[in-house]
Amino acid sequence: MKDKLVIFDTTLRDGEQSPGASMTQEEKIRIARLLEKMRVDVIEAGFPAASPGDFNSVKAIAGLVKDSTVCALARANPKDVEKAGEAIKPAASARIHTFIATSPIHMEFKLRMTPDQVVDHAVAAIKQARSYTDDVEFSPEDAGRSEFGFLCRVIEQAIKAGAGTINIPDTVGYNLPSQFGRLIKKLLKNIPNADRATFSVHCHNDLGLAVANSLAAVRAGARQVECTINGLGERAGNASLEEIVMAVRTRQDAFSCDTVIDATQIVPASRLVSNITGFPVQPNKAIVGANAFAHEAGIHQDGVIKARETYEIMSAEDVGWGSNRMVLGKHSGRNAFKQRLKTLGFEFGSDEELNETFARFKDMADRKHEIFDDDLQALVTDTGNEAENDRFILKHLQTHSEMGQTPSAKVVLVVDGKEVTATETGNGAVDATFKAIEKIMDSGSELQLYSVNSITSGTDAQGEVSVRLEKDGHIVNGHGADLDIIIASAKSYVNALNKLCNADTRTHPQLAQAI
Ligand code: KIV
Ligand code: ZN
Repeated sequence: MKDKLVIFDTTLRDGEQSPGASMTQEEKIRIARLLEKMRVDVIEAGFPAASPGDFNSVKAIAGLVKDSTVCALARANPKDVEKAGEAIKPAASARIHTFIATSPIHMEFKLRMTPDQVVDHAVAAIKQARSYTDDVEFSPEDAGRSEFGFLCRVIEQAIKAGAGTINIPDTVGYNLPSQFGRLIKKLLKNIPNADRATFSVHCHNDLGLAVANSLAAVRAGARQVECTINGLGERAGNASLEEIVMAVRTRQDAFSCDTVIDATQIVPASRLVSNITGFPVQPNKAIVGANAFAHEAGIHQDGVIKARETYEIMSAEDVGWGSNRMVLGKHSGRNAFKQRLKTLGFEFGSDEELNETFARFKDMADRKHEIFDDDLQALVTDTGNEAENDRFILKHLQTHSEMGQTPSAKVVLVVDGKEVTATETGNGAVDATFKAIEKIMDSGSELQLYSVNSITSGTDAQGEVSVRLEKDGHIVNGHGADLDIIIASAKSYVNALNKLCNADTRTHPQLAQAI
């Protein structure tokens, strides 16, 4: 009987710390639901003390997710732990993850604490966290650069105080696989009460070694891995969930443990996270890149046709590549539509929401014959574009482009209930459209990213546009999808402007500073 390897997903916490990867509460809920469907064991939903928006998101996810443990992050201080404890109260299964730095450089320059003070803070935070839940995780931050004797001491005390999971972070991505594996082995051997806790690892990818380090640790005895979808996370990111899960599953000969992840949800989750954050997945990315299962060389194609195993070590279907099926058409009814979206992890909050999205589905079905799962995903993302509290709505767009002529755009926006029109010219139809919107809004924001993605193949595919705007240090991602990419672009820009003006959905610069 193999051990269980616990998968702890931190896309919504460390992943969101990626500059520009801010997510609204509604977007985080959609990701959390998909992670639950994927059978992720622990979902780190956020850092409640960082901002009211983060607190509310963790609380909302704690109230909705039933099959995964919902975890909140807290620094080792009473205020943070209290916020985390309050936020996870609605959860069926709740964890608090508290951390404090243990490396000499962090203790001296960041915390300005002595090693004794660090131990005291850790023990006090764990005991306080235990008053909210029995499931407490402790991380000695920057463990990868901490002094071994002190690391053993703080961990022994943390376990004594009630931490059931000890997470060893390579916070700055400095370790090498053989070294990190040895560290885990030595900790398990030298800490007298190590058998009373599950050892976990949390590796950053600064040297491109996050997955390799995590796997070395698992081979050395770690039984939880912290990871994110698409490897999203601070700086170069975290270990990627899909690579960890598939490496362990594909190389069962080398691991004495396995996960319970439903791998067919990997590609849909990758798409959802990429779509929401506006971070594209590189085509040659393992498991989830567009080329991960594509064979170009004739000799490879020939081999795969004769026997798949000649050049493929996994099947594309096993990780969800087959999931983009043609599912609905113009004759499909409301119930089939609702059921299909439920399968994709989306449930409507009200009949009005269902009716509105269904009407847009019918409109799309009139114009596009084959509707795929990805079209439905985009349609739902687009629903989020007109939230109840939106102040700006795209009412009308007319563009003109002609070879040798300057492109122009006429935009009609509804701003706080009043129609406003503007016309502008630009270097292209999209440029003219954005300039016309700005003529009305004068937002003072800076465009940081504009990306267009074709949702399915064919010239009648929907275009999905992500726009990232920055103003006064606040970053938001807007999304829009339409069969017409100029309209999709305008929708995404207006969506970003609505988010920028809604304080709750802004990214939180203080979060990055806090950790
Ligand atoms: O990288 C890190 O050390 C962290 C901790 C909060 C676990 O994210
Ligand atoms: Zn981290």
